[in-house]
Amino acid sequence: VSWAAYSDPETLARERREIFERTWHYAGHVGELERPGDFAAASAGHVPVALVRGEDGELRAFLNVCRHRGHEVVSGSGNRKSLQCPYHAWTYDLDGSLRAAPRSDREPGFSMDGLGLLPLRVETLGPLVFVNPDREAAPLAEAVGPVAQALGPLDDLVFHSRASYEVEANWKVVMENYLECYHCPVAHPGFSKEVNVDPDDYVLEAAEWTSSQYADPRNGNGARGQFHFVWPTTRINVFPGIANLSVGTAVPVSSTRTIGMFDYFFGADVTAEEAEEMIAFDSQVGAEDRALVESVQRGVGTSLLTEGRLLPESEQLITHFQALYQSYE
Ligand code: FES
Ligand SMILES: [Fe+2]
Repeated sequence: VSWAAYSDPETLARERREIFERTWHYAGHVGELERPGDFAAASAGHVPVALVRGEDGELRAFLNVCRHRGHEVVSGSGNRKSLQCPYHAWTYDLDGSLRAAPRSDREPGFSMDGLGLLPLRVETLGPLVFVNPDREAAPLAEAVGPVAQALGPLDDLVFHSRASYEVEANWKVVMENYLECYHCPVAHPGFSKEVNVDPDDYVLEAAEWTSSQYADPRNGNGARGQFHFVWPTTRINVFPGIANLSVGTAVPVSSTRTIGMFDYFFGADVTAEEAEEMIAFDSQVGAEDRALVESVQRGVGTSLLTEGRLLPESEQLITHFQALYQSYE
C-alpha cells in the first residue's frame, strides 16, 4: 500500500464508504442494554449508532440520525419508553418507528410512515455487541471466524471500564502497528519482560478476515496471551494471567487522526487492584505505541518516499492486512 494512502483525505472518504460502512465494528457491551428501554449511543467506525433494547426484549441497532434534519437522536445511555431527538422533539418508538413530530398536524399530507430510524445489523459475541451498517453483510460469525473459538466462552466476563484514546495517525498506521510484535523487544520493554516476544515462541496466525498473535507469559503461569484483530479495526486482547479481555475500536476522524476506545472486562473473581494493575500495564504499552504511530505518520506524510519494505516473515500479518485492504481497491 502506497504511503500516499496514509494521509490522503479522498482515500479516507472512500474507505469510510467502502470499508467502514460495510463491516462489523465493536460498539458496546450488553451490560448497559439489559432491560427493555435501555439505550446507548455508540458508533460503528464513524457511523453514529443507537443501541436499544426493545419492549419485546430484542436488541436493536439504528443509525443514530434523526430523519428530520439529521441531529443525533440519543446521546449517552439510559432507560426510556421512547427516543426523542433534542433538536425539534421528533419522537421514535423503541422499535425505531416515528411516533410524533410536533406541528406535523399543521402540514397537510404529512405522513410519519417511512420516517423511522434506519435499522442496522447488530449481533453479540458473549457480552460484546457488534454493529454493521450494511444490512446485506455476512453474519458476525463469518467476520470473527476462528477468533470466537480461540477466545472460548465469554459470558462470565464483567464490564469494568472504558478508556478512550486519540492519536495523530492514520487508522491503517495504528492497525499495522498492532499487527506485528517485531517492535516489542525494542519499544515495549515492560511488556517484553512479562510476555515472551521471542520470534521462536511468538505465534502469528492469519485467517480470512482476522489475524491472531499468541504469546506465553515469561513466568510460565497462566494461559497464553491472545491478541486478535478483526477486520477492519477491532482488536481483542487477552493478557496472560487473571481472567481478562479488552476490546478496542478505531474511528478515523481525519486521514491523519484516529480516535477510539478500549473496553475492559474481567472475571468476577478478579480484584480491583488486579484490574487496575492490568489496565495500567496496558496503558503503558498504549502510550509507547502512540509515540510510535505518531512518528510513523510524520514519516509517511511526505511525497519524498512512496513506500516501505516489510519483512515477509515477522510482518506477515501486515501483509495480510494490506491484502484485505487492497481487495477493496
Ligand atoms: S433534527 Fe431531529 S427533530 Fe429536527
Ligand atoms: Fe506496540
